[in-house]
Amino acid sequence: MSSPVAIKGLTIPQLMARKGGVPIVSLTAYTMPMAQSLAPHLDFMLVGDSVGMVLYGMDSTLGVTLDMMINHGKAVMRGAGNTCVIVDMPFGSYEESPQIAFRNASRVMKETGCAGVKLEGGAVMAETIRFLSDRGIPVLAHIGLMPQSVNTAGGFRSHGRTEEEAHEIMDDAWAVTHAGAWAVVIEGTVEPLAKSVTESIPIPTIGIGASPACDGQILVSEDVLGLFNDFTPKFVKRYADLSDAASKAAGQYADEVRARKFPSDEHCFGVVKK
Ligand code: KIV
Repeated sequence: MSSPVAIKGLTIPQLMARKGGVPIVSLTAYTMPMAQSLAPHLDFMLVGDSVGMVLYGMDSTLGVTLDMMINHGKAVMRGAGNTCVIVDMPFGSYEESPQIAFRNASRVMKETGCAGVKLEGGAVMAETIRFLSDRGIPVLAHIGLMPQSVNTAGGFRSHGRTEEEAHEIMDDAWAVTHAGAWAVVIEGTVEPLAKSVTESIPIPTIGIGASPACDGQILVSEDVLGLFNDFTPKFVKRYADLSDAASKAAGQYADEVRARKFPSDEHCFGVVKK
């Protein structure tokens, strides 16, 4: 097993200072035990609203509520040690006005103790990003493929293929930069565009299905660990097959119970004899 190389407890300014340097490593986490396993290896962790699809089996992230995000945020904070944790703002909790966004984002910050929030949207969210960051809430922006806009975008498809879309994404990147976002997630965007956004703007870009040239990368842990099989994007590399391991372990347990092999003497009372 490789030894952890993440510097513990990076602050937002320290993460910003990684622009153009050693790539920023991030994964999602939704639970305390997963946060504990991942934390030593990460520069920051995201409690993503992908939780709705990955843990709850929803078809999209639209049904995720603020209370769900706060509860998962609290759980992750209990396992994250001093690794920086960012919590996603769910659909409907921030789009209406900067004031409503502040009310909900400050609840997330207060109740979870996380370091900042993420929200989807470029130019259209610039005023809100400015409002939040001027009032002490660090914002990680999210542009390109925005899963909360799946209905208007016509599905989960890659973005930036036409000249018009490429201009729009570049404009979004600049809009969130000027609005005070500390970094921006670029999702599902064609490689040359993600690279050129990264080379243009002064804040870190965190790619997901975008470009290795981004200043950092993020993936959904369950995809990487083989724990979510409903839909795996093409760009995901699996580093383990934990669903298969869980199923095999459950099968072995079932066989032993049926054969009355379990609990054996050595497992009684929680004492394992060596
Ligand atoms: O919700 C999520 O998990 C995300 C990332 C994967 C960027 O937004």
